[in-house]
Amino acid sequence: MYPPIAPTNYSFTHFPHFFLHQSPLSTNKILNHQSVNLVCKTKDSNGNIPKTNRNKKLEISELKFDRRDFLLIGFGSSGIYSTVANLKSLSPDFSNCVDAIKPDGKPVNCCPKSSSAAEISDFVPNSVAATTRVRAAAQSVSGAANMAKYKKAIDLMKNLPADDPRNFTQQANVHCAYCDGGYNQEGYSDLKFGIHESWLFFPFHRWYLYFFEKICGKLLEDETFALPFWNWDSPSGMVIPAMFNEIGSPLYDRRRNQDHLPPAVADLNWDEDVLPVRVNPETQIKYNLSIMYKQMITNGTTPRLFMGQPVRAGDDITMKCGAGSIEIAPHNTMHTWTGDPREPNTENMGVFYSAARDPIFYPHHANIDRLWTIWVNKLHGKVFTDPDWLETSFVFYNEDANPVRVKVKDCLDLSRLGYAYEETPIPWIDAKPRPRGKYVRIPNSLEATQALPKTLDNVRIPNSLEATQALPKILDNVLKITVKRPKKFRSAKEKQEAEEVLLIEGIEYDSNH
Ligand code: C2O
Repeated sequence: MYPPIAPTNYSFTHFPHFFLHQSPLSTNKILNHQSVNLVCKTKDSNGNIPKTNRNKKLEISELKFDRRDFLLIGFGSSGIYSTVANLKSLSPDFSNCVDAIKPDGKPVNCCPKSSSAAEISDFVPNSVAATTRVRAAAQSVSGAANMAKYKKAIDLMKNLPADDPRNFTQQANVHCAYCDGGYNQEGYSDLKFGIHESWLFFPFHRWYLYFFEKICGKLLEDETFALPFWNWDSPSGMVIPAMFNEIGSPLYDRRRNQDHLPPAVADLNWDEDVLPVRVNPETQIKYNLSIMYKQMITNGTTPRLFMGQPVRAGDDITMKCGAGSIEIAPHNTMHTWTGDPREPNTENMGVFYSAARDPIFYPHHANIDRLWTIWVNKLHGKVFTDPDWLETSFVFYNEDANPVRVKVKDCLDLSRLGYAYEETPIPWIDAKPRPRGKYVRIPNSLEATQALPKTLDNVRIPNSLEATQALPKILDNVLKITVKRPKKFRSAKEKQEAEEVLLIEGIEYDSNH
């Protein structure tokens, strides 16, 4: 059961949305969503749609769960999959791309060269690839070679004709079209396809990087080319890698947060809306390692919690808010940490439609992909077996600029895809945070932040009745409520199979303060 306050000494305001995103409840019954944005949007207290929902706290007053969803509590991730794939598996209507919609509601055309359904061929990788491309950490010695080739490849991509599907802008647009509503679902002309905030997050980005890497290799005439990964989960990788910062380099992007250039240490729990609490680099590194532990291990105990919630053909993906732990953070948070707050939508990295225009996007996602393999190989060992997931397909242009359709089930074995990750130390694997922090951060109040850390020793704890009767409360102090737990003891096996979820419903707050 999740305690009512964050169990570690991290920000209080960052974490409430984690409870919601990570519950195994299906949130596709959320009512009152009328807007056209594609990601699970919420409205601010003035009724406006926020400029981006990356890393946004869900406003709980917007959520109305269908009662049936509660039946899922306690069944966990293993018992409720459908056993037969939908007759039609989920796939994008690639041949009929339309304008994508930016978070500010403006259309943006990021459609690739169109291909008719007949031109798209199926791509199924061989059972064992001929070569192994080794993705290495950008800051490591072997990674330096990957980085040098990467720089060359990006340069070549940027110099391809604008209408070549392998051109850098075209490649960046792949992400835009898939993320912001460029495609409908095949067979459902009124339903959007989307690849964030669900179980499609890891496999989509894996395939996307696969073809991106193959295109680089083709242009470099080097089959062994492998992407570098941005190793932000390790202390030596927690800054923007040096080569991305050379002005004039093909890897440079001026649309980045200027306060986050080296030597700034990344904040893996960055929230653009919260006044940053500046801590010294050593402390930030410790926080980061604890965040990693929390997202990879504590919050990632089942495929649904780690990889995200199901979406199937015929689902309205605009109603889905089912991101897995790593997608929420550090994935989203590192996007917004990198993006430029001077830009209207934190471009480039801070918003879906433009994120892949920054060459750092691909090494960022190589690290996300690497964390997925660590979770599968070292931590958890299993992924979904649901046919609706396995049969979902995507379409990309390959290294020969031909459109190919690929399936989720064919990207699960890296030896078939022909790449591997350089083994590097995993410093967060034993960075378990202390069970219950004595201190909390209350970053919404400048005063409170400056006076940190605050000790909780003298806080009176009201019982739940007292607390609810006295609402609304001004959150100028810690409010703790004890919730009676129906069943206390569960075997290790029970815990593994079924997540226990505390659903906090009906909390409203004024996000302007
Ligand atoms: Cu498709 Cu990092 O986002």
